[in-house]
Amino acid sequence: MEQMNEGGRHGDGGGLEVARTGDVAEGSMKKVRAGDHEILLAYIGGAYYAADARCPHMGGDLSRGTLAGTIVTCPLHHSQFDLAGGQVVRWTDWSGLLLSLAKAFRSPRPLTTYPVSVDGDRILVRI
Ligand code: FES
Repeated sequence: MEQMNEGGRHGDGGGLEVARTGDVAEGSMKKVRAGDHEILLAYIGGAYYAADARCPHMGGDLSRGTLAGTIVTCPLHHSQFDLAGGQVVRWTDWSGLLLSLAKAFRSPRPLTTYPVSVDGDRILVRI
């Protein structure tokens, strides 16, 4: 039995429908909702990736950043994360003392990622 909720329908595997396959072009990303969560959905090399849309540094909107392969760059202070697993590639683009202070104030933390599945033309994210 399927259920409705704010972010979309539950799929058979328990994921929430967040978009249709035609909604995200190859090599692009967009912000979608899954329940109360803002999710960054990207389509890269024929695979979908889902992660929190908010940067773990100071909450920048990653959907307004840039995408190069699976690396997303935050528009605020240019931290970079790999959507394949959420790993921090770069923690801000600051350097020297400023970077040291930034790391002391808020230590680097990975981006939370979520499993994605496709059922027909429905893209499902399990959160
Ligand atoms: S909020 Fe994203 S790098 Fe600072």
